[in-house]
Amino acid sequence: MVSIWQVLAVIVAVLDPVQALLNIFMKKKKKLPPGPKGFPIIGNLHMVLGKNLHQALHHIAKKHGPIMSMQFGLVPVIIASSPHAAELFLKKHDIAFASRPYNAAGQYIAYDHRDIVFGKYGPHWRNMRKLCTIKLLSNIKINSFRSMRKQELGIFVNSLKQAASNHIEVDLSAELASLSANMSCLMVLGKKYMEEEFDERGFKNIMEETVVIAASRNIGEFFPFLSVFDLHGIIARMKELAKIFDDFFEKVIDEHVQSKDQKKAKDIIY
Ligand SMILES: *[C@@H]1O[C@H](CO)[C@@H](O)[C@H](O)[C@H]1NC(C)=O
Repeated sequence: MVSIWQVLAVIVAVLDPVQALLNIFMKKKKKLPPGPKGFPIIGNLHMVLGKNLHQALHHIAKKHGPIMSMQFGLVPVIIASSPHAAELFLKKHDIAFASRPYNAAGQYIAYDHRDIVFGKYGPHWRNMRKLCTIKLLSNIKINSFRSMRKQELGIFVNSLKQAASNHIEVDLSAELASLSANMSCLMVLGKKYMEEEFDERGFKNIMEETVVIAASRNIGEFFPFLSVFDLHGIIARMKELAKIFDDFFEKVIDEHVQSKDQKKAKDIIY
């Protein structure tokens, strides 16, 4: 279910609700693609509340076509459900649909939609992309971590060899995730942080919880006037998670400021 809602967030282009309201008041109706009739206020939400959203949408699209409009609560959405339709949104007219719809995770965890995942397409976002391609993820930068990656890989292979000669079972998925986390940590932060240095519940648990919370259904996103009540307690949890991330980032930045003068390997934060 989690990933389906994430995929939906990517493929569904949401029209600006303010614009939609303005249109209602100004009686200037935008021409929308065909779609199923809905109820007042809830719109078509009742049609997509089942367990498998993708199957429900597939079913409805068979009747209304590969590009259809629906209403999730007060939020108008356009569903693209064929490869060709997806290409129109994601490739041909990608600039028009490049921004993400409002999302509570974007607001509370991603610094009010200012990061590169949730940020609105515009000068700020283009600057972030430029920074990533020219500075943070440039060939020179990535190659500069080559020997570190080789070293980490060496440690990993040796531990496999040792386990093999001692006939010890190895959970390869977990070990590969750990290897990748170790390398990412070294490249981005300059050193390996222990799980508990991030939070007493550990980095992995917090990341998993963040993904689940960010993709949970939140009724406030479909009925903005309900979001102040935080009916599922999601927003309270998001604020707690945001604080954990924020405290950790502060700590990492402080450590970098303090060790600025020492000759150290340059990680991405430098
Ligand atoms: C990742 O780093 C930790 C801490 O140094 C180490 O204990 C662990 O074995 C490493 N994981 C892998 C797969 O190399």
